[in-house]
Amino acid sequence: MRFGFAPPIDRLLNGGLERGCITNFFGPPASGKTQIAMCACASALKKGMKVAFIDTEGGFSFERLSQLFPEHEKFLHKLLLSEPCTWEEQKNVIAELEKIKNLELIIVDSIVALWRLELNQENVFSINQELAKQLATLAKLARKLNIPVLITNQVYADTETGELELASRNVVKWWSKNLIELMHAGRANCRIAIVRKSRSIPEGRKIEFEITEKGMKEVKFRLL
Ligand SMILES: Nc1ncnc2c1ncn2[C@@H]1O[C@H](COP(=O)(O)OP(=O)(O)O)[C@@H](O)[C@H]1O
Ligand SMILES: [Mg+2]
Repeated sequence: MRFGFAPPIDRLLNGGLERGCITNFFGPPASGKTQIAMCACASALKKGMKVAFIDTEGGFSFERLSQLFPEHEKFLHKLLLSEPCTWEEQKNVIAELEKIKNLELIIVDSIVALWRLELNQENVFSINQELAKQLATLAKLARKLNIPVLITNQVYADTETGELELASRNVVKWWSKNLIELMHAGRANCRIAIVRKSRSIPEGRKIEFEITEKGMKEVKFRLL
């Protein structure tokens, strides 16, 4: 059974996040990555699930959590929030996940923000190796515990081709069994989510949704 957490995304993904593997939501700034992560977190707490939320960008907001789930305070003991500020701290936090018992959802928002700060011409090989190691740990936990792992990934302008690419390119793409692209839809608070890679959903399937105070709702009719 997939983990459903927000109606439009659940419909796009045949019921929600797949268990046993990594699902990666990628897109430019303000495309809704952190909103998706917060909705997943709120919905898991609502179901009494134990959640590890790794926030590398300071995007986690208790104010937003209380909009999404006003009674969240009763469930805060189920939330393991960590806020690494350096790539080294992120490495340790991800390694520590292996020691936590009964985890039911892991969220990393974003997997590459600190990686990018650390990256330079000299360390590109070793730092990508470390990124792969972190992703391998996440994938292993997903499989071993049969839980969903949600990561987010900003995209940056590729200076050579002028195209947008996943920041970490092939490393993160390879480790993510599901890749979902997020983009702005041209109307305030509206976004489009497109399946770019999946083991069971046709590539290119998309949905338009609106980010609201209570979460997300599907946009069914569009006046053009
Ligand atoms: N309570 C809310 N109601 C409606 N829209 C919201 C609310 N909170 C945030 N948003 C929308 O979410 C957007 C930010 O999305 P976010 O997930 O932080 O982007 P990303 O993580 O991809 O950079 C804001 O631009 C705003 O449009
Ligand atoms: Mg964000």
